[in-house]
Amino acid sequence: MDTELKGKTALVTGASSGLGVDFARQLAQHGMDVILVARRLDLLQSVAEQIERDFNVSAWAIPADLADSQVRQELYQHIHAEGRQVDVLVNNAGFGVYGNFVDVPWEREQQMLELDIIAMAHLTKLFIKDMLQRNSGYILMVASIGAYQPSPTYASYSAAKAYVLNLGEALNFELRHSGVSVTVVSPGVTATEFLKVSGQEPTLYQRLMMMQSTDVVRIAIESMLKRKPSVVPGIFNALFTWGNRLISRRMSAQISYWFMTYR
Ligand SMILES: NC(=O)c1ccc[n+]([C@@H]2O[C@H](COP(=O)([O-])OP(=O)(O)OC[C@H]3O[C@@H](n4cnc5c(N)ncnc54)[C@H](OP(=O)(O)O)[C@@H]3O)[C@@H](O)[C@H]2O)c1
Repeated sequence: MDTELKGKTALVTGASSGLGVDFARQLAQHGMDVILVARRLDLLQSVAEQIERDFNVSAWAIPADLADSQVRQELYQHIHAEGRQVDVLVNNAGFGVYGNFVDVPWEREQQMLELDIIAMAHLTKLFIKDMLQRNSGYILMVASIGAYQPSPTYASYSAAKAYVLNLGEALNFELRHSGVSVTVVSPGVTATEFLKVSGQEPTLYQRLMMMQSTDVVRIAIESMLKRKPSVVPGIFNALFTWGNRLISRRMSAQISYWFMTYR
């Protein structure tokens, strides 16, 4: 348990399934109260009940569609009005869409960009100012190894995650003399609802490389506490992203395409 976090509050977006559930549980294990946000209230409530039972902290479920700008603003005001301060913000909610760019309906594409890019930036902007006033706080942003190269069949998703990666690493630098830090975690394929939501059957590469969400989250929180700009969990994922530097971007796109399509 990290004593620095004990008794403080974490806001975790996308806490109804996958990585978000484990972020909430592991931060609660550090003694933090947690605010859980996603759209499915029933799931959030069940996660909150289990956390309160297992870790003796308070867990607060707030249903919200974070793709809606007004909802994000109201969420911030609601938390303020309840007298809570957010010491750790985990910007985790997100989804991908599998398929060729031309085949993905615009409405789905737009929802994804709104959640993966705009909501990430908006929530950060809302909460970071309070953190800076207190000169204390942590922000975790969830990107993807897809951020490190052009990824055919996840073209728009990986481009959105490249935004997250670059935003977070630049913010880490901008804030280097403050008590607030931003850390980007870029997971590879992880056992969550991600593939079901994106509409992809797991490929050979994904079946072989699948990591457990608890491991990804543990590595992310350790890196956050060290105020690192960025982390890629898993040795093969780290080698894969590093290896991209040695080959042309065209070759990188080709390899990514094989990994995303070969079954
Ligand atoms: N799993 C992977 O292989 C993988 C790899 C790289 C990066 N990532 C990233 O990891 C993050 C977490 O995804 P996951 O893998 O844990 O997938 P997941 O199990 O599908 O979880 C996604 C979470 O986001 C929430 N969410 C989706 N749309 C939302 C909206 N409009 N408003 C509020 N919450 C919303 C979902 O809750 P509701 O449906 O209840 O709203 C859910 O809690 C995402 O940013 C994803 O891009 C995942």
